Amino acid sequence: MTTLWGGRFADRPDDLMRRFGDSIGFDIRLWDADVTASMAYAKALARVGIIDEDERYALLEGLARVRTEFADGEFLAQPDDEDIHTAIERRLGELVGRVAGKLHTGRSRNDQVTTDTRLYLREQIARLRQQLAQLQRAIVDRAQAHIDLLMPGYTHLQPAQPVRFSHWLLSFFWMLQRDRDRLEGLTRRVNVLPLGAGALSGNPFGIDQAYLARELGFEAVALNSMDIVSDRDYLVEFLSWASLTQIHLSRLAGDLILYSSREFGFMEIADAYATGSSLMPQKKNADSLELIRGKTGRVVGDLVSILMVLKGLPTTYNKDLQEDKEALFDTIDTLTMTLPISSGIIETLVVHPERMQAALTDEMLATELADYLVRKGVPFREAHHMVGQVVQKALAQGAGLRDLLLSDYQEVSRLFDRDLMRWLNFEQAVERRDSVGGTARASLETQLAVAERLLG
Ligand code: ARG
Repeated sequence: MTTLWGGRFADRPDDLMRRFGDSIGFDIRLWDADVTASMAYAKALARVGIIDEDERYALLEGLARVRTEFADGEFLAQPDDEDIHTAIERRLGELVGRVAGKLHTGRSRNDQVTTDTRLYLREQIARLRQQLAQLQRAIVDRAQAHIDLLMPGYTHLQPAQPVRFSHWLLSFFWMLQRDRDRLEGLTRRVNVLPLGAGALSGNPFGIDQAYLARELGFEAVALNSMDIVSDRDYLVEFLSWASLTQIHLSRLAGDLILYSSREFGFMEIADAYATGSSLMPQKKNADSLELIRGKTGRVVGDLVSILMVLKGLPTTYNKDLQEDKEALFDTIDTLTMTLPISSGIIETLVVHPERMQAALTDEMLATELADYLVRKGVPFREAHHMVGQVVQKALAQGAGLRDLLLSDYQEVSRLFDRDLMRWLNFEQAVERRDSVGGTARASLETQLAVAERLLG
């Protein structure tokens, strides 16, 4: 029995208790971060004379070998390895002998575990950031390719006004852009060094924390050891970030599910991202999209779980905090799948322009009619009312706005004139909306240019 803390105990822990308390099953993925942090700590110990040059060399060599064993898949966890920190220290001892016992001088697993988690998370954030950018790239490319394609725009899921397909698609670019931007802010708070905080009260050996921070690439050293050993705010922030990002993916999935349904038929996901039915031979189901939407629950659940762990937690480290990692890893693993799958879906999406065209119905030009009168001096409120009467006429005749006769219009207002039919046109309705952020081609081109710049 080789626990790190066995000295004061007469009896072994209960077997079930051991399994209950062990975290090696999931924190093993911190191995690289743990080796990195331990190497920096060994060097810091040498700088203050706790270990001599030979010992420093032995520790660094040993840690490098442990790293190689992990990298080669040769590291064998032992039944008594409680967590990744125990496992690495145990193996280091087997490789270099007694000096391994000096590595933990002044260090606690409390400052160690959160140092490791921060190092690990920093790498994951850099990776997720790239995956986000790839999805944005796919969106921009498709928006560029179909810039002239029009589709119905909806509010309340009712046909509202015509828009460019690119405009709809790029709306997701901006959600993801805010997500990418938020990552920058939170990375700053991940990048704070806990090592040197010890169990809770600091380090008594004069460890040079500025040196440790430089070695490990942290931007700052924590100024309060009691805070930093139990600070998991950076995980809350990351999981909030992930929840919102996943919700954006879920909304994209929701639109795609709707638009690729038989009833809309505006687009279709590629076979590679669909599945069939075991019973109904004709079916092509958008499973990928449904799973993206469905997995939002677990990501938000992970956020809630860490918030609940923190609620009412007494100051500094409590074992409750071990519960932070599974939530974190689960969310990272989920986004690591949902981001590239979303990219693949967008890259291979099949669009059906004729179905979008066919769905552009006359009532979506009603606002144009009101604007027509406004340009002839009618106050908008009155124009709105008059167009309501025109719409009523059309409904009564079972006709579209473009099927009514000019005389029908003139019964409502003498201001309707011959130029009306040219005005009542989807293309022009779209082109008139040339405000910043509007759906006109010129606005879209500006939008695309800025998007390109942001993708660098
Ligand atoms: N496995 C533990 C965790 O994940 C490491 C820290 C243990 N610290 C302690 N004082 N028992 O939180």
